[in-house]
Amino acid sequence: MSHLVIAIDGPAASGKGTLSRKLADKLELPHLDTGLTYRAVAHQLLQNGQPLDNEAVAVEAARQVDLSSLDKDVLSDHAIGDAASKVAVMPGVRKALVELQRVFAAQSPGAVLDGRDIGTVVCPDADIKLFVTAYPRERARRRWNEMQLKGQDADFDAVLADIQHRDERDMGRSDSPLKPAEDAYLLDTSEMDIETAFRTALDIVDKSRTA
Ligand code: CDP
Repeated sequence: MSHLVIAIDGPAASGKGTLSRKLADKLELPHLDTGLTYRAVAHQLLQNGQPLDNEAVAVEAARQVDLSSLDKDVLSDHAIGDAASKVAVMPGVRKALVELQRVFAAQSPGAVLDGRDIGTVVCPDADIKLFVTAYPRERARRRWNEMQLKGQDADFDAVLADIQHRDERDMGRSDSPLKPAEDAYLLDTSEMDIETAFRTALDIVDKSRTA
């Protein structure tokens, strides 16, 4: 198989993570959830009691991120996601993490990466780009369900407000804002369960590869 890079972007709780993992499994490609790299920086700062708005300190934490030791269970905490979107506005942090992400994408036989800026900045030459969205209310419902399953008590309106703040921060930042690449396929999963979204995405991948 030749080198194949698939870039999957989208806002919080759009379903891009599950979709990316399923695609990577099916295509037998390694997968990187780049959100975890920003979460790892935020987690380290929170753990050390360091501020989230000091770029020099955050860049130092970003330089220590090791892709082989990202612990999804620890990093998936809701509060870490919010802190991650604060450190993600810093160009120095992005530069350090994008470097790691590009090395991951360059491995043979390719990779699936998901995030906010994969198709626009990290891998602008990706073979296939998907932009996965869903209405904010539906995304909040999914996030709220996830939290319930983990036994976390959460207020739905607070989760929705949080998703909306995060969207604003991710779309409004000047460095690598969240937006679809011009050549991305838009996949609105508001009315789709994960299996339907997966089938639709796989169809797009198959058609692009045979085109
Ligand atoms: O899982 P969820 O969609 O809630 O978030 P995530 O993908 O883990 O990303 C957490 C935060 O990291 C996002 O809100 C973004 O601010 C930031 N991020 C980014 O700026 N660029 C990426 N490629 C991935 C995540």
